[in-house]
Amino acid sequence: MKDFIETLPKIELHLHIEGTLEPELLFKLARRNGVIIPFKSEPEVRDACHFSGLQLFLDIYYQGANVLIHGQALPHRDKIVAVGLDSSETGNPPEKFRDVYERALREGFLTVAYAGEEGPTSYISDALLLLKASRIDQGVRCVEDPALVAQLIAEHAPLTVCPLSNIKLRVFDTMTQHNIVELLRRDLCVTINSDDPAYFGGYMTANFLAVAEAHPMSAREIAKFTFNAIHASFISKYEKHRLGARVNEALGITASVIR
Ligand code: HPA
Repeated sequence: MKDFIETLPKIELHLHIEGTLEPELLFKLARRNGVIIPFKSEPEVRDACHFSGLQLFLDIYYQGANVLIHGQALPHRDKIVAVGLDSSETGNPPEKFRDVYERALREGFLTVAYAGEEGPTSYISDALLLLKASRIDQGVRCVEDPALVAQLIAEHAPLTVCPLSNIKLRVFDTMTQHNIVELLRRDLCVTINSDDPAYFGGYMTANFLAVAEAHPMSAREIAKFTFNAIHASFISKYEKHRLGARVNEALGITASVIR
């Protein structure tokens, strides 16, 4: 199964660019930009990556992001497809961001939103209803509301789940307790993603391996994560078809059928 996972094409839908800031680059940018960071060495940054919850992680994460002071997004508008929302959910319900999302939608952007990682299930429903989110980032708490689960299944609404992040941030205590495979088997459009790999100990393959190790699955089930990600991606039908064929090739099937 390890060989299959390593060769299976994977699609990353949930990656914070700042979360790929490995300690080496963090120090390099801090030096170049003259920014003082509260770490003396690269191992010290790695040592700080033990979190008991989202807020403690975000405190460290934003210290890292402080070195990113050049550039930000408007000159690259032609390369931006969607607008999203992250950070602390508690006390920040989707309705708070309704105006800015309405503006983004008017400007022609798609929208995505974090919901249901630490926030209640109503944040997921409101992200879909009020923010018109095409994808929910995380969303694992949806299981607490059977009507919401039924809606997510009916709409085939994608959830971009980040398994290693969920363990690091104590959303679940262990990978065996993680509900991602249960969600897959209930036919929700769940996908595997890496979130902030420099902080959470693994990129895409590591996330797939960790899930498969804790939850024995068939090759078809593992590949379903990539098929779901193809469905959830904001690429053309042609690209979706091309990627679907590559996954089928990994499965040893030549005819490609994607939903
Ligand atoms: N949760 C919420 N916001 C975030 C995260 C996360 O794991 N990573 C970066 N921003």
